[in-house]
Amino acid sequence: ALITLRQLLDHAAENAYGVPAFNINNMEQGLAIMKAAEACDAPVILQASRGARSYAGDIMLRHMVEALCEMYPDIHVVLHQDHGNNDATCLSAIRHGFTSVMMDGSLEEDMKTPASFEYNVEITRRVTTAAHAVGASVEGELGVLGSLESGEAAAEDGSGAEGKLSHDQLLTDPDQAMEFVMATRCDALAIACGTSHGAYKFTRQPDGEILSMETIRRINEKLPNTHLVMHGSSSVPQYLQDLINENGGHMPQTWGVPVEEIERGIAMGVRKVNIDTDCRMAMTGQFRRVATEKPEEFDPRKFTIPAMEELTALCRDRFERFGTAGQS
Ligand code: G3H
Ligand code: 13P
Ligand code: NA
Ligand code: ZN
Repeated sequence: ALITLRQLLDHAAENAYGVPAFNINNMEQGLAIMKAAEACDAPVILQASRGARSYAGDIMLRHMVEALCEMYPDIHVVLHQDHGNNDATCLSAIRHGFTSVMMDGSLEEDMKTPASFEYNVEITRRVTTAAHAVGASVEGELGVLGSLESGEAAAEDGSGAEGKLSHDQLLTDPDQAMEFVMATRCDALAIACGTSHGAYKFTRQPDGEILSMETIRRINEKLPNTHLVMHGSSSVPQYLQDLINENGGHMPQTWGVPVEEIERGIAMGVRKVNIDTDCRMAMTGQFRRVATEKPEEFDPRKFTIPAMEELTALCRDRFERFGTAGQS
């Protein structure tokens, strides 16, 4: 059944677990994620980006998620707008059955230019008031996601945003976080701690210099009752880089966020963990393997079935490691 982000994350906080938020664009991703949720008895957050909404269409997405809920009646599901860029995106999502929205006011509407604190507070407060009036939840974001190695901000799609940023802009300030949550009344807060979107997060195994779990600890100290959200939380596992590269892909060596670090984050108040890149790599790795091993094959199901199995295995692992398993 569909529930709100607030309901799910309150339960997660009471029971000290984290919930992966997997991006969804199509039926195969939906089926694979739900199969994992069912196998683990885990609640799940399905999130659709603006790109996903235009790819599948709002009507298709709504009916698809309704169908998934009907197929898996015992699983609690949140349907969440990922990175809403303005009021219209968030409100139209709610009108199409989303139970939760992210109003990302850390960037301006173009989702590239870092926004002022005042702009962020104003737009997030406005969206939260409107969403709460109709029973939907809101995730805000404070701090610009980006690389502490290069100083580059990361746009929503993993490409670089405008200009170089200082360490201060790339790490959420705990005092500002407190002011932001009080002023906006948002239900969950996405923070910046050195992660970025996409596969190319770190050029080496991350340590405390480039992945600041200390920032999360400090924010949690000031805001022990706020549900924290980690974006850019794909682990970019080596086995998936290898699967892709052994089958004709060209992904330069890269490092993501180790699952152990996410587990530490969950112990420090992280409740929602955004994962898209790992899911993409799982499916694409199997597409490539089938294309390489069976060049005579042209039935798309022969590609999508192993791709869904790889995605299900990945999701099961995250449900188990984040403590979500057994909680639906
Ligand atoms: O945060 C970005 C997510 O990975 C969604 O990406 O906008 O390409 O659908 P997308
Ligand atoms: P990844 O690119 O690390 O999967 O992050 C996804 C994300 O943060 C979606 O909002
Ligand atoms: Na989000
Ligand atoms: Zn994100």
